[in-house]
Amino acid sequence: MRFDILSIFPEMFASLIDYGIIGRALKRGQIEINLVNLRDFAEGPHLVTDDRPFGGGDGMVMKPEPIVRALESISTGKGEKSVILLTPQGQPFTQSIARGLAMLKQIVLVCGRYEGVDERVRSRYVDTEVSIGDYILTGGELPAMVVVDAVSRLIPGVLGGARSNREESFEDHFLEYPHYTRPRVFQGLEVPSVLLSGDHRRIELWRRTQSIKRTLERRPDLLEKAFFSEADKCILEELKQKHGKPSHIGDQESDHDQ
Ligand code: ADE
Repeated sequence: MRFDILSIFPEMFASLIDYGIIGRALKRGQIEINLVNLRDFAEGPHLVTDDRPFGGGDGMVMKPEPIVRALESISTGKGEKSVILLTPQGQPFTQSIARGLAMLKQIVLVCGRYEGVDERVRSRYVDTEVSIGDYILTGGELPAMVVVDAVSRLIPGVLGGARSNREESFEDHFLEYPHYTRPRVFQGLEVPSVLLSGDHRRIELWRRTQSIKRTLERRPDLLEKAFFSEADKCILEELKQKHGKPSHIGDQESDHDQ
């Protein structure tokens, strides 16, 4: 997977490139990141990349020419490519969008700043507009990092064989169960005994129950899309009987309950 990232602040990506799993994937050649400085494609003595909006109003708009010249400079190989504009007006970024993007060969991320980019760039050059949430950031750089991170970890080998197949939050529309590590007792709080039992079937049942319970408590909206196995339906029924209305579950029992 190759990511081309267009930004006026390419230096912001140093933290993504130099550290952790993404840094390692880059070193191993599992992903490639090409940072494109939009200023290199600006003209005039001041290398201006923004201008005042036609029609007046506050703020500045990113000029189309540097973005289009930068887009045209990007080499495209074989395989599917997508040009994505990061904007609060885009479609909400989800795990399923990340999965779809992970199938591509090349992703071009255009990071807007100020009030946004000239509409003609959006309409003519952008395939998809993506938002990472209903809040306004100062630019598309952090959202672009979110996309690179979420997509890269789905590329086979990036997380390492065993972990890539792990059950994860959102994969099946349930939140993850609580995790514990040593020590067994921390500040008087004990690890649920079932996790120390060595009984893998009981542990699996406990984890699935916790997963469903957490989703009911915190994100009942996810359940609309969730797939419930017959065993899941039994767990759900039991939880409902035990706790009454799903929205009240959290008031009655803590995550430490077994
Ligand atoms: N640019 C500014 N805010 C954003 C957001 N929430 N998502 C994507 N791009 C953005």
